[in-house]
Amino acid sequence: MKKIILTGDRPTGRLHLGHYVGSLRRRVELQNSGEFDKIFIMIADAQALTDNADNPEKIRQNIIEVALDYLSVGIDPAKSTIFIQSQVPELAELAFYYMNLVTVSRVQRNPTVKTEIKMRNFEANIPVGFFCYPVSQASDITAFKATTVPVGEDQAPMIELTREIVARFNHIYGETLVEPEILLPTNAACLRLPGTDGKAKMSKSLGNCIYLSDSTKELSKRVKSMYTDPLHLNISDPGHLEGNCPFIYLDAFCRDEHFEKYLPDYKNLQELKDHYTRGGLGDGTVKKLLINILEEELTPIRERRKQYEQDIPAVYDILKRGCAEAREAAAQTLAEVRRAMRIDYFDDAALIEEQARRFRNA
Ligand code: TRP
Repeated sequence: MKKIILTGDRPTGRLHLGHYVGSLRRRVELQNSGEFDKIFIMIADAQALTDNADNPEKIRQNIIEVALDYLSVGIDPAKSTIFIQSQVPELAELAFYYMNLVTVSRVQRNPTVKTEIKMRNFEANIPVGFFCYPVSQASDITAFKATTVPVGEDQAPMIELTREIVARFNHIYGETLVEPEILLPTNAACLRLPGTDGKAKMSKSLGNCIYLSDSTKELSKRVKSMYTDPLHLNISDPGHLEGNCPFIYLDAFCRDEHFEKYLPDYKNLQELKDHYTRGGLGDGTVKKLLINILEEELTPIRERRKQYEQDIPAVYDILKRGCAEAREAAAQTLAEVRRAMRIDYFDDAALIEEQARRFRNA
């Protein structure tokens, strides 16, 4: 069986370090591993509209931001197909059929949807489209016969639902769709990178993000104001690592060779942590190390972004070509789905023959 990746993001803002360690960095590795036959990366504008119906301009503006973020981290349009969800209408048709295979109570139990409803204060006013987005996400994945979906942990319930829809579809209509596997980060810090305030995950509305496109100055400001250990008042005090942002970020970003380069008094992160918990190590030193490491990681990303920003029409061209390619793949699956469901009436000569006979003999 072919190995195919489908993954994507809602274009509601620029992408940040949470996206980067949670999934973007992995996508680039997978892309360059050569292990996959096809890689599709989707800008999920239709899904973003499910809770932004009154603000389509926000989505429209952010499509290019997300595309630039993809290209700048090293998604290579020669190896991966980047496309925009709404430009592949086949996805909407698939979702329309899949909705019949899922119960309302099943979607109501989805923990990610539950959290989102709370965060948006929807309560009794949930848009139907928003409620159904997990089903539409199953279309996004299955339309490309994806075997592998590299995403953050919050997306696990969607992949689970997709697997259920696939099983149910194949059971009713015959083996047609492919069950995907989720691919999660292996490192706990990457699984759920907290915001710079130490709270939950990065979120634009909380103002606790570090964006991939942040300047050196912005980055340094955000690291310097990071939440650390409120009990660590004097350098000599023993420090606590739990919930300590700079250390969590170091878990996600730092490698042994960084110490040789930026902080040769220590061999590795464990030695630094030990000193901190013992007492005698200031937050400033830890933050300085983190700034150096993040700068090293983000500099090539910023530079690549600058280059693409010089030719925005070319970026739209990349997206347009990607959409055409994605549409072709999705149309192929849709044709198979229609055939399996036996709603391909005009391509079904036996059906027409059978009906003709029935009425001739009547
Ligand atoms: N729900 C994803 C997010 O919020 C975006 C998305 C839409 C997606 N369709 C997908 C991710 C299909 C993976 C596969 O970021």
